Amino acid sequence: MSRLVASPSPGFGGTATLPGDKSVSHRALILAAMAEGESRLTGLADNEDVARTRAAVEALGANIVEDGDALQVTGRVWTSPDAPIDCGNSGTTARLLMGACAGVDGLAATLTGDASLSARPMKRVTEPLSRMGARFEGGDTLPITVHGARLGGIDHEGRIPSAQVKSAILLAGLRSGGPVRVVEPFSSRDHTEVMLAQFGVEGAIEEVVKGMAVSLGERRSLTPTDITIPGDPSSAAFLWAAAAVVEGGEVTTPGICVNATRTGFLEALDAMGADVRLDNERLQSGEPVADVTVRHRRLTPIEWGPDHVAATIDELPLLAICAAFAEGETLLEGLGELRVKESDRLGAVAAGLAANGVSVFPTGDALRILGRHRVRGGGTVATAGDHRIAMGFLVLGLAADNPVTIDDGSGIATSFPAFVETMRALGATIEEPA
Ligand code: S3P
Repeated sequence: MSRLVASPSPGFGGTATLPGDKSVSHRALILAAMAEGESRLTGLADNEDVARTRAAVEALGANIVEDGDALQVTGRVWTSPDAPIDCGNSGTTARLLMGACAGVDGLAATLTGDASLSARPMKRVTEPLSRMGARFEGGDTLPITVHGARLGGIDHEGRIPSAQVKSAILLAGLRSGGPVRVVEPFSSRDHTEVMLAQFGVEGAIEEVVKGMAVSLGERRSLTPTDITIPGDPSSAAFLWAAAAVVEGGEVTTPGICVNATRTGFLEALDAMGADVRLDNERLQSGEPVADVTVRHRRLTPIEWGPDHVAATIDELPLLAICAAFAEGETLLEGLGELRVKESDRLGAVAAGLAANGVSVFPTGDALRILGRHRVRGGGTVATAGDHRIAMGFLVLGLAADNPVTIDDGSGIATSFPAFVETMRALGATIEEPA
């Protein structure tokens, strides 16, 4: 357990380069490992979750060699690994691998995870993959053994938007002969669709009465390619939030992924009155990228409903923390999925805010926050080992009247190992207590 304390940090700001996007990194590794031949991946995220996916695809048969800041990945048809694959804390590793393994006839792989991942629901993935013809041993939680098979098609209608479910089905569908279609009520992040196109796979996205439908076309074989991974908006969000809430704060983060399925938090900050600017917008390996600048302004409350949730999914706890500084009542709705993330994020964020003197009212899957321009702080937050809860409450401590302590910062390496160092370089006071 490593406690960390964040103290008021007037003057927070500057320019910081962020690591590669975690979601895009997982997909780049998996697709490059499935594409027979050599692909080159530049700017991959260097965190624990992505390291799990890298080790997994190596165990499944890919050959990976480091070449400067790039990885040379030689893909092939996957074979059964010699030992169980440990997905650690990473839901994306577990769920996407289930899909990618499901289509390899005769392959068997057992997936395990840490205590948090072993408590997260997997039926949402195993159920549709079973309908396509794959077989699973185990229940709703890891450990689960996936047995690959010759797959048929599927027309899957998801009740909640989930990129992990959608991606698992699309990855399985690459090796299926039948029609493959996934419908979501709102579009979840579409990095799998974008990257499939980079690897030469045909697909289609269309608006339907019930939301957005993604389907695979005729051409489903992967052609190896080179991918450059954009900066991670979900890691940059902590820097943007700090700039928004610290009096006089300002931060610029070059080269960040600004795919519209990921920009909900920036839109929310903008709606709350922060100064948000995108410069140098461009496309990089199919993903929209920009240099993002956020400047402090007095924040005002917002109402953020279910139609915004998918594009803000990993930033909702941080949005609640920013709302603590917005004078008045903020209402965040449709947060049910937060209960089954790396921790019960709805419970953790409500408890952490309350411990720091913020009036917060959780009801069902909503959170009502009564913000004030000044937040007392001074509390100790239980992170439940969750990286985003840990980083979010350290941000609170930079702008509150009193230092904020988190009980355990070790989880931060899950997504952003250089977080504390990056924040300190921007003027944040974050220390390990003696
Ligand atoms: C992810 C999708 C999201 C997100 C997770 C990463 C991905 O989950 O919360 O951190 O890379 O596909 P769901 O879309 O399944 O909610």
